[in-house]
Amino acid sequence: MDRILADPGVRIVVCCGAGGVGKTTTAAALALRAAERHGRRTVVLTIDPARRLAQSLGLTELDNTPRPVKDVNGEAGGDLHAMMLDMKRTFDEVVLQHTEPARAEEIFANPFYQAMSSTFSGTQEYMAMEKLGQLRARDEWDLIVVDTPPSRSALDFLDAPARLSRFLDGRMLRLLLAPARAGGRSMFSLVTASFGVFSRTVQKVLGAQLLTDLSGFVAALDSMFGGFRERAEQTYRILQAPETAFVLVAAPEPDAIREAAYFAGRLREERMPLAGLVLNRVHRTDLPGLDAERSLAAAAQLERSGEHRTAADALRVHAALTQQAVREERVSARFTDAFPAVPTVAVRAQPADVHDIDGLRTIGAALTTAGLAPAG
Ligand SMILES: Nc1ncnc2c1ncn2[C@@H]1O[C@H](COP(=O)(O)OP(=O)(O)OP(=O)(O)O)[C@@H](O)[C@H]1O
Ligand SMILES: [Mg+2]
Repeated sequence: MDRILADPGVRIVVCCGAGGVGKTTTAAALALRAAERHGRRTVVLTIDPARRLAQSLGLTELDNTPRPVKDVNGEAGGDLHAMMLDMKRTFDEVVLQHTEPARAEEIFANPFYQAMSSTFSGTQEYMAMEKLGQLRARDEWDLIVVDTPPSRSALDFLDAPARLSRFLDGRMLRLLLAPARAGGRSMFSLVTASFGVFSRTVQKVLGAQLLTDLSGFVAALDSMFGGFRERAEQTYRILQAPETAFVLVAAPEPDAIREAAYFAGRLREERMPLAGLVLNRVHRTDLPGLDAERSLAAAAQLERSGEHRTAADALRVHAALTQQAVREERVSARFTDAFPAVPTVAVRAQPADVHDIDGLRTIGAALTTAGLAPAG
């Protein structure tokens, strides 16, 4: 990882993975490391960071402006800015860029737009990509580290923007729009002629106002269809460029490893550069020479003697930890067997949540240390 963070040719690091595996933590830790150790002017784009981590990064509200992070050691000549993605505001910015102010106001006021820009599934992924595109275009930073949204699946980050622009661009919308274009009549007027009963039912269920809103939304967005698609495609191309490094984060558990392998395969298909796999929150023991069996036997012996209860307990804990470590290694091997060329680094489960700069430094050091002792 240090080689990647130091490489001036690497301009974007994307941290992806399934929900809750440690993407945000990894992104923040890598960005801090790039700034402190490698002297790079770095920005980290976080998405929904835990509140305490956000506070440590000096982020008190959703904010589309990168803010300098305090307590970063700048001796190497680098610095760190951080921001939290404001999905709604990013969407507004895109609209403003692609349409005249009056039209934009119309769009902003529309209830469909309001719902979609703040809750539509896929909007967060799309806007994260959009923001990445904007940051890259400004060319102000040596390195942009991107966190990805808390989706169930890592693939959503790649798929959602296309899905969203397909929706905005979709045939369904165009069909709905056609009657509205025909002479400014109500969009359902043509339909009403042939399907009177159907239309009246729809109106009754959905309400006339809702149909008017939807029609207005579709008409207003029509002018932007191309814009959405083009921008999504542009960012997609940035993700395929050699200046980008994907870092895949996974927990050493069967579902997460399966998912990670799936995602790695997909990156390969898309010709997107996978820099490595982070196995996060792995368990290791500090006594790899003492295996679980011997440890349990010794515990039993101590218990029989009726003395050294605490030692017996410690031996049992050690045995359980060793068993878990071995299990995790076996599970993780499924990934490394399938992708032997992808470098892997393991980060130990810390005793507590990672929420301050020092904690991020610890994770950053672990992320750049080759290998942990084998589990035994
Ligand atoms: N190695 C670790 N040891 C201990 N705790 C960790 C470790 N990595 C992450 N955590 C903690 O796990 C929680 C989830 O981490 P994080 O927010 O980075 O995951 P995420 O993948 O971004 O989640 P989401 O998909 O919800 O965005 C956080 O509270 C974080 O502090
Ligand atoms: Mg996160």
